[in-house]
Amino acid sequence: MVTVAHTLENLHTERRTFKPPVSLAAHANATAYEYKKAGVDRLEYWREAALRLAWHEPFTEILDWSDAPVSRWFHDGTLNACDNAVDRHVREGRGDRVAFHFVGEPGDTETLTYADMHERVQKAANGLLSLGVGKGDRVAIYLPQIPEAVVAMLACARIGAIHSVVFGGFSAESLRQRIDDAEAKLVITADGGNRRGSHLALKPLVDEALASHGEGTAHPEPCASVEHVLVVRRTGQDTAWTEGRDRWWHDVVDPQTAAHEPEWVDAEHPLFILYTSGTTGTPKGLFHSTGGYLVGAAHTHRIVFDLKPETDVYWCTADVGWITGHSYIVYGPMTNGATQVLYEGTPNTPHEGRWWEIVQEYGVTILYTAPTAIRTFMKWGEAIPDRFDLSSLRLLGSVGEPINPEAWMWYRRVIGGDRCPIVDTWWQTETGSIMISPLPGVTATKPGSAMTPVPGVAIDVVDDAGRPVPNGEGGYLVITEPWPSMLRGIWGNRHRYVSTYWNHFDGLYFAGDGAKKDVDGDLWLLGRVDDVMNVSGHRLTTTEIEHALVAHPWVAEAAVVGANDEVTGQAVVAFVIVRGDVAGIPDDGEAVAGELRKHVRKQIGPVATPRTIMVVSEVPKTRSGKIMRRLLRDVAENRPVGDVTTLADSSVMDAIRGGLEAGK
Ligand code: PRX
Repeated sequence: MVTVAHTLENLHTERRTFKPPVSLAAHANATAYEYKKAGVDRLEYWREAALRLAWHEPFTEILDWSDAPVSRWFHDGTLNACDNAVDRHVREGRGDRVAFHFVGEPGDTETLTYADMHERVQKAANGLLSLGVGKGDRVAIYLPQIPEAVVAMLACARIGAIHSVVFGGFSAESLRQRIDDAEAKLVITADGGNRRGSHLALKPLVDEALASHGEGTAHPEPCASVEHVLVVRRTGQDTAWTEGRDRWWHDVVDPQTAAHEPEWVDAEHPLFILYTSGTTGTPKGLFHSTGGYLVGAAHTHRIVFDLKPETDVYWCTADVGWITGHSYIVYGPMTNGATQVLYEGTPNTPHEGRWWEIVQEYGVTILYTAPTAIRTFMKWGEAIPDRFDLSSLRLLGSVGEPINPEAWMWYRRVIGGDRCPIVDTWWQTETGSIMISPLPGVTATKPGSAMTPVPGVAIDVVDDAGRPVPNGEGGYLVITEPWPSMLRGIWGNRHRYVSTYWNHFDGLYFAGDGAKKDVDGDLWLLGRVDDVMNVSGHRLTTTEIEHALVAHPWVAEAAVVGANDEVTGQAVVAFVIVRGDVAGIPDDGEAVAGELRKHVRKQIGPVATPRTIMVVSEVPKTRSGKIMRRLLRDVAENRPVGDVTTLADSSVMDAIRGGLEAGK
């Protein structure tokens, strides 16, 4: 394992703080008392949170940790996640409330109340049963961001089937790997989805995934587990059909009766599997429980986003194919009875103001998005959001990667009108729900810091020996006590679960992230520890230097890698995208690089000065928006570029190479 420097003192000079708005604090769902309660009795705190759910049979035990590191929470209670997310609202008189304002990319819209969702999930549940899917069976869901994706997930939960959502941007090969690993019985897909103004085909990828890939390949045989493919008609494009196996959603689901009693499952019954990339090549199928997961998702959603379900319009821009979509579109918000926006498309189709147009149109009050999106909007320029009325917004959230202080400030000023608090939420697919975040009515925030663990969650930063570091120092982020929404394991591989997360430090969950406690003890996430660089014996993280670069007025986005260097061990190589809306930036890449080198030296110190700064038009990102540093390292080290199949846009690497060749 790489070590994290303890000499990061000079890397954080951020001193600004922003108090919660008085009006929000006065009516906040969570006050400082929340921390106190959790501090006095953590398990009692979670018991109370769990009592907000609808249980079929009540639980008597809160936590069973006797089989550590696999936990059981509320295990003798029974419930159903779909009942909590949908039926309960109808039962308690909230059926007329809008659950989703759906906006398709081509401009089609649909309004779905909780009563509408109730009808749909019952029909879909009966449809799944008619295809022979039952409790414990695995169902792969490979859909665009349309209401049927939510309905399909909830219908699985309703019958006790375990869904495995595969993001619609993944390849046939990735889909096949995930279907095989989970031995899915059914695949739910669509003919296609709308993306950047054209039709993206999905069903042909399912056909390819399920077919034999030929002798000598990883999949010489056709997929053995899948019995049916259920296809939603979304785009109307022509679709090849395998008789007997393929069925239209409207033929199977629409004729069903809207009457179905939820399957009451034990709290520990697996709700879903979600694959995430590991440090080794094969994706890990993380799985989550029903009860503990739902408690974590719903509770954090209520306290971190301060949701007022009667008046708020909440929009999480993530795809349901990622954990953020699972926890903060489907299970958390719906359990809390939220009214949400669900948008199918990209932020710049048909124009770069599309998101802000949606905020204006639906009066969105809470927006939850990712730093990569914020930096993209910075690149496009603030004149675009300025054209829209964003005054309905009252709270902003960020997730997915460290947010650099400049992006944070831009988000606050340009999108939040200097009045909305920002909650920077740190968590992982593994944690199921938010672990570190400000509480918007309590915490005075610092731009770029996720601040403190949420109440009921125990986190620390430790050194190589697993000892807590003092304030002002950095190390590894660990979770020191079990929490309700923690993963229950890696599907079919307990050993890998234990060795990946629990073997680094005795009894502590190792998150894989570096973090620093500042002098006040607040937490600053420093990126994955595998992104740590060692330059002349000094340890630096890519994130620090990226923050510094983006703090320069010329820079819209920056990606930093550590490239092998004969003299210094590793050297800092930076790829930067310059802003389109700032005048006076030199055309000459060398002039830009010289200025930025000086800037980084000034911000962090000579040790962090990039050896090379390359001005590029794009940086390679995965479909979930993470920068693929591995590929940039290939460029920086002058190697042929490795596997680009997980890139959102594989032409980016050609453009970078081409640009660099031309600049030589
Ligand atoms: O490195 C952390 C980063 O994203 C990782 C988890 O990725 P994933 O499982 O895909 O889940 C993303 C959505 C929850 C973490 O190990 N990360 C996530 N949120 C933040 C973050 N890093 C810094 N600040 C955050 N707010």
